[in-house]
Amino acid sequence: MIKTAIKVAITGTGAALPETRLTNQDLEKMVDTTDEWIITRTGIRERRLLEKGRSNLDLAEAAAVMALENAGLKGAELDLILVATVTPDHLFPSTACLLQARLGAHHAAAFDLSAGCSGFIYALSVGYQFILSGACRRVLVVGAEVLSRITDWEDRATCVLFGDGAGAVVLQPVREEDRGLLCFELGADGTGAGLLALPAGGSACPASAETIKNRQHFIRMNGNEVFKFAVRVVPDTLARLMEQGGVSAAQLDYLFLHQANLRIIESARKRLNLPPERVPVHIDRYGNMSSASIPVLLHEEAAAGRLKRGHLLAAVAFGAGLTWGGMLMRW
Ligand code: COA
Repeated sequence: MIKTAIKVAITGTGAALPETRLTNQDLEKMVDTTDEWIITRTGIRERRLLEKGRSNLDLAEAAAVMALENAGLKGAELDLILVATVTPDHLFPSTACLLQARLGAHHAAAFDLSAGCSGFIYALSVGYQFILSGACRRVLVVGAEVLSRITDWEDRATCVLFGDGAGAVVLQPVREEDRGLLCFELGADGTGAGLLALPAGGSACPASAETIKNRQHFIRMNGNEVFKFAVRVVPDTLARLMEQGGVSAAQLDYLFLHQANLRIIESARKRLNLPPERVPVHIDRYGNMSSASIPVLLHEEAAAGRLKRGHLLAAVAFGAGLTWGGMLMRW
């Protein structure tokens, strides 16, 4: 754990979810599946889909505006904008630069970060380091995804899982001793890169009539192997985080887990012997929103007034790469 006089805290949160809902019953009419299969295997009941004509940038902006407002800041006061996403508007320019223009954040550097569903935790750790080093004072960290645009709506094994949304937080140095980010655990295993990927559209396999015919512009996933990886990496990351932070599971007021499958969340919760109210869930309402899932959870708990100053929180995510990331903080 980095011992430092500077404390870095989340001073504002925001979220944006599209209005359009796609229920399991809707999916029953699209592919060979059932509401019962989806609920028992994943915990998902419905997910949100971004309306035609809107993009990742629109979701990122709505979440960012809310986070800035809650932090009492204007875009022009930001030093850095980080957008974690696997579904940027374009390969380049980054969504972060487009967002910088929308927010009038003339003084901010801006870049996107790609670490799959762990992207928000990775981006949070980057923003934290920029503040610790003294290079920045006000950092906006966004997780924004429009997974519906890279979902194969003919593949029942994946199309039931994903949803669209965005969450954002503002990071700032604070004076209070009993508040702020405590430590991070990040990791990657590129030998598992093929387990969860978007095969075409990058420079290795540019778009062509062939890639479109072969449906290579959609998510490909080996669900069983990713499931096994997640069940292993979540408790391992949590154990290392708690060791680094010198805390025990019983001391955690909240555990925020990446919302990929309710069975993965429940297995971690039961292993740590935490009551359900300390492990919030929105997968039933939104499905897997990749890098947006943890910041949306944070925002929902903060907006409901359930997060109190001094609460001890842990968050763990895992995803494509393969990657994983965890953080410990006092609210
Ligand atoms: N509806 C009905 N049946 C389905 C289905 C669907 N939507 N999707 C798959 N099935 C079938 C399969 O074809 C298989 O049938 P078979 O036994 O006749 O071959 C059966 O259900 C079991 O499939 P399986 O893939 O073994 O199910 P599972 O219990 O592993 O659950 C996932 C599948 C995808 C829900 C699960 O593996 C998972 O959540 N993996 C992790 C995914 C993840 O976290 N991804 C993102 C990482 S950030």
